[in-house]
Amino acid sequence: MNKIIIFDTTLRDGEQAPGASLNIKEKLNIAKALSQFGVDVIEAGFPISSPGDFEAVKAVAKSIKGSSVCGLARAVKKDIDVAWGALKFARRGRIHVFLATSKIHMKYKLQKHEDEVLKLARDAVKYARNLCEDVEFSPEDASRTVPEFLLRVIESVINAGATTVNIPDTVGYAQPLEFGELISQICNKVPNINKAVISVHCHNDLGLAVANSLAAIKNGARQIECTINGIGERAGNAALEEIVMAIRTRGDFFKDVNVDIKTNQICKLSRLVSNLTSFLVAPNKAIVGSNAFRHEAGIHQDGILKKRSTYEIMSAQDVGFNKTELVLGKHSGRHAFSQRLKELGFHLKSKEIEEAFSEFKRLSDKKKQIFDEDLLALIRERFHKESKPIWQLRDFRIISGTALSPQAEITLRHKGKKFKADAYGDGPIDACFKAIDKITGIKIKLLDYRLESLTSGKDAQGSANLRFSAQGKEFTGRGSSTDIIEASIRAYLSAINRVASI
Ligand code: KIV
Ligand code: ZN
Repeated sequence: MNKIIIFDTTLRDGEQAPGASLNIKEKLNIAKALSQFGVDVIEAGFPISSPGDFEAVKAVAKSIKGSSVCGLARAVKKDIDVAWGALKFARRGRIHVFLATSKIHMKYKLQKHEDEVLKLARDAVKYARNLCEDVEFSPEDASRTVPEFLLRVIESVINAGATTVNIPDTVGYAQPLEFGELISQICNKVPNINKAVISVHCHNDLGLAVANSLAAIKNGARQIECTINGIGERAGNAALEEIVMAIRTRGDFFKDVNVDIKTNQICKLSRLVSNLTSFLVAPNKAIVGSNAFRHEAGIHQDGILKKRSTYEIMSAQDVGFNKTELVLGKHSGRHAFSQRLKELGFHLKSKEIEEAFSEFKRLSDKKKQIFDEDLLALIRERFHKESKPIWQLRDFRIISGTALSPQAEITLRHKGKKFKADAYGDGPIDACFKAIDKITGIKIKLLDYRLESLTSGKDAQGSANLRFSAQGKEFTGRGSSTDIIEASIRAYLSAINRVASI
């Protein structure tokens, strides 16, 4: 059996998705959960890209023991030095160097000829290899690179010391048969290929990222780069959960390979990442969508009752997909509460648990049954995003009705002082947002606003999800409450606080 190395890039390529930014604490939490999940390599960031990314990679490198920790670098000394500066603390660190090799990238982006690119790639790998034993090289846009040149680059970087060569389908252009054929050519034509692991990194622009990755495995790839929920640049990356479950479910087809992932933690990881990035998972998303194991048609339900495998190829339990369970209530104690948080993937300090427990008690006064979704929302909002929110909600009042112009009065707390404003709006939520704008003076452009119920039941919390732009960047904001106006205000304030803390 050949082990498929699972290389998770949720914290690097996933975080590159517009609006998905994560702070160090959030990255660390996800990294710990990924490591417990069995991921072999965690790409924690692109250290040269910002001081925040550098610190996050360093923090992950220092704390993760079970998985290798990887950092991205362009093929230049400065990038490699900075990446190593963060990775040198890791028990097992990996430097991932990339350089574009397709004609279009070399001509327009790099303005370099083939031979210059070849030399830069070789020199960069050699330089990285002097610092770190584990070096990966990616010829960016490999699937649109002239195959003969691609093979030369691969041979050359392996000679320079690359231990993994990654073949990215950077723009999601490849077709499964063609991509499989490319991997097969690499296996057969690169003379020193046995000295490196072949990896693939597929984007989903044509919805083929998972299919291309699986075709690559069939043709000799032994590392797959992927992300939880398939998040990533543009249409995203190959979804980890789909790759892993395809291999597990179709063991008859993927006979000679296996993966070492605790699949019963898949849903936990999916929810953790969705919660911290505020990227919702579509109900029909394979493996982790809320409808993935639901049967509506009468004929299907009948079949399932007679024999589950008539309409189910894997079981919900295999991926840890338990119907939202009632976990806690008003009378639950601290121990059960902190235990459940741990099971959900949160690692909080005792002071934070205390504060979270008080919030939980407040919520359980309003809401009889506290579900996992309620706990996830509580932790995300109150304890994760901003350690000290710059603007906090103190009080709000609204007047609205069929014959009235909606009006809101908002009081916020900022640096220990109270600020109050009122405003009219098209609706009560618009009025609240306008009043907040008056107080903070911060301008954001709302791109999308959605309201959903976190769980079922009349007393369910509403969750407001915003996508907005500010200072040329895109962000997301989320807020929840048993009152949908309050949920919307909280989401808006989380957006305002993100902008204020840039
Ligand atoms: O998509 C891509 O080509 C990348 C590389 C840096 C591997 O993300
Ligand atoms: Zn990518």
